[in-house]
Amino acid sequence: MEIRTHSDLEKLRYNGLSILYPQRPRISVGMATCGLAAGAAAVFDALREEADILGFDFMLVATGCIGYCQQEPLVDVRMPDLGRVLYARMTPERARKLISALAAGELPAEHALASIPEETSNIPKNSEVLSGVPLINELPFYARQHKIILRNSGLIDPCSIQEYVARSGYQSLSRALLNLSPQDVIDEITRSGLRGRGGGGFPTGKKWQVCSDATGNPRYIICNADEGDPGAYMDRTVLESDPYSIIEGMTIGGYAIGASNGYVYVRNEYPLAIERINHAIDRASELGLLGEDILESDFSFSIEVVRGAGAFVCGEETALIASIEGGLGEPRPRPPYPAISGLWGKPTIINNVKTWASVSAIVVNGAGWYSSIGTEGNAGTVVFSLVGKVANTGLVEVPLGLTLKDIIEGIGNGGLDGKRVKAVQTGGPSGGCLPASLFHLPVDYESLTEAGSIMGSGGMVVMDEDTCMVDVARYFLNFTMAESCGKCTSCREGTHYMYEILSRIVEGKGTPDDINLLEEIAKWVKGTSLCGLGQTAPNPVLSTLRYFRDEYDAHVGEKRCPAGVCRALIQLTIDPDLCNGCGLCKRECPMEAISGEKKKLYFIDPELCTHCRTCYDICPEGAVKILR
Ligand SMILES: Cc1cc2nc3c(=O)[nH]c(=O)nc-3n(C[C@H](O)[C@H](O)[C@H](O)COP(=O)(O)O)c2cc1C
Repeated sequence: MEIRTHSDLEKLRYNGLSILYPQRPRISVGMATCGLAAGAAAVFDALREEADILGFDFMLVATGCIGYCQQEPLVDVRMPDLGRVLYARMTPERARKLISALAAGELPAEHALASIPEETSNIPKNSEVLSGVPLINELPFYARQHKIILRNSGLIDPCSIQEYVARSGYQSLSRALLNLSPQDVIDEITRSGLRGRGGGGFPTGKKWQVCSDATGNPRYIICNADEGDPGAYMDRTVLESDPYSIIEGMTIGGYAIGASNGYVYVRNEYPLAIERINHAIDRASELGLLGEDILESDFSFSIEVVRGAGAFVCGEETALIASIEGGLGEPRPRPPYPAISGLWGKPTIINNVKTWASVSAIVVNGAGWYSSIGTEGNAGTVVFSLVGKVANTGLVEVPLGLTLKDIIEGIGNGGLDGKRVKAVQTGGPSGGCLPASLFHLPVDYESLTEAGSIMGSGGMVVMDEDTCMVDVARYFLNFTMAESCGKCTSCREGTHYMYEILSRIVEGKGTPDDINLLEEIAKWVKGTSLCGLGQTAPNPVLSTLRYFRDEYDAHVGEKRCPAGVCRALIQLTIDPDLCNGCGLCKRECPMEAISGEKKKLYFIDPELCTHCRTCYDICPEGAVKILR
């Protein structure tokens, strides 16, 4: 079947609705990379096997990420006439028990995380399906979230175009091609206030206008899916969970600027994302939603996937373009900007994965709808991968303007194991570390930049009292030093020098002059580097110097690591009042530095101990103490 007209699309939509809301049970398992890493494939198989054994008739679906990654594997059960419930931390054994209960006509409360209200005819409207099980929106993790970019993530089968269309997919493209001129589309995006979600926050409509006004043909569309920040997996998840939203956005972008070819540049380390986006491109092409004369509009557009080799700098737009052209992935000075002279020297729009997924939501719902979400100047939503020393981890989407506190304490539920949160790092290796005293700040592009960090693409790493901020700065510097392409001297040499100084400090060999030199080099690298990598690489150093100077001073002046992390600056000892003589520490110590007899006290020999903290991590009584 080809989709030639709007009514063809409507038929596909009805077909999709019957799959999304079937008369028989539908069980979805979150099977993005995060779910698979937690064992979702075995759960999926167990559900199917047990249902086969019991003759239980149901629809089993592999969806993308359901968001609450920490609770995975997650299983979403929709039972007509009974209700819809999300089950957490499933195992194959629990999955089999679940099927037995469902086959007996029961929605069990065991391992139920939340019930999900749904306004369809065959699901009870009263969503208090199971007593004692909260509604999903009552869970702190979900309560403040507003899903636009992740609107379909975890709800649809990413390989089913019918399910995408059933959730208003392709309504935007249809509206754009059949009712709007290219300039209308650009105006709609401009009015919406959408800013690029790749990190810089440049107004998307303005960029499209510059490109539209530029001379030169052909023109190109690029989706930047080179996400490489440590701890960040937002873009991978969107590709794995809702690839059609990106394809639809790019097709609309192509129509707006007059491009017939698009590229998705995705890092090779994302095999599942590559598989799913390729599948979606093939399917959309089969149905005529990519290719010639889309929806009989005379507009033609095709998309190709280009795999990046995993260099962080290739996420920078000019380096990315060079890489697609087959050259070295090195940035070049701008201007000219890609909107005027991009791929093969032609006008090119490059936007982030999340920007494209936002475009496909905006054109159908309208600029006014989008700009009413978020704050003035910072419209819409932003996706964070909330990770680190925080109680609730996962992928969260919030309106811009929520405070850091709302996210870390509200959604994240504060520190891990009740520990005090000390700082948050936003923006990946280009970002900065902000102290807890600034958690009242709203999350928007300007506030984070003023405070010395950046919004970035969506990495949010939470740190607690056991995190050494000097060590954190060194960790990120190690990353940027290794990823510097080496083209400009300040980035190549500067990151190297900063890393050397930080290493001296964490090894207890630093001097007060080192701190001053570090600051001086950081400012020099920031001011003189060619591209964003070098210009932002000093941010972790400058922000930790700004807010955690006392930790640097302690390392240098007192040869002490207040967080108890830097191995050269700590001593380990066993508290005789807490030691129960189990001997686990002695057994596990790789240096054989612990002596003692079972049921008696154990001792650490400081001459042999390398401060690896194995004993500290495994002692069941918390008897091993770090002298900071
Ligand atoms: C070192 C470096 C790495 C970058 N990596 C990415 C990336 O992985 N994804 C991305 O969308 N933008 C990345 N950017 C930003 C891009 O250069 C570009 O601004 C962005 O793709 C534009 O899309 P947007 O307007 O939708 O944000 C990076 C920039 C730098 C300097």
